[in-house]
Amino acid sequence: MAEWKKLCAEDDIAEGKTKLFNVSGKLILVGRDEGELHAIAGYCTHDGGELDGEEVIDGQVECSRHGAMFDLRSGEATMMPAVYGVATYDLMVEDGHIHVDMG
Ligand code: FES
Repeated sequence: MAEWKKLCAEDDIAEGKTKLFNVSGKLILVGRDEGELHAIAGYCTHDGGELDGEEVIDGQVECSRHGAMFDLRSGEATMMPAVYGVATYDLMVEDGHIHVDMG
């Protein structure tokens, strides 16, 4: 069942940028790539580092601890040392604000 949580204004996340949110105790990374917003879990699967990089690089985000990368759309791990991907979350924009489904 969907459980939508409001994150921020839509224009708070510029093209090629990301923002990390704590939503009910879970870190969620939201980024904008080629005009589209995407959300993934904000923890690296290598060693639990926070995905706190602020840039989208060729559709991916980087863990600043050891350089693993994750596809912003699919959550797939695309660069070692991470092997496993991260969860993805549905987003919607309503009344100019981004909402994430935590259900
Ligand atoms: S914790 Fe992210 S690459 Fe090691």
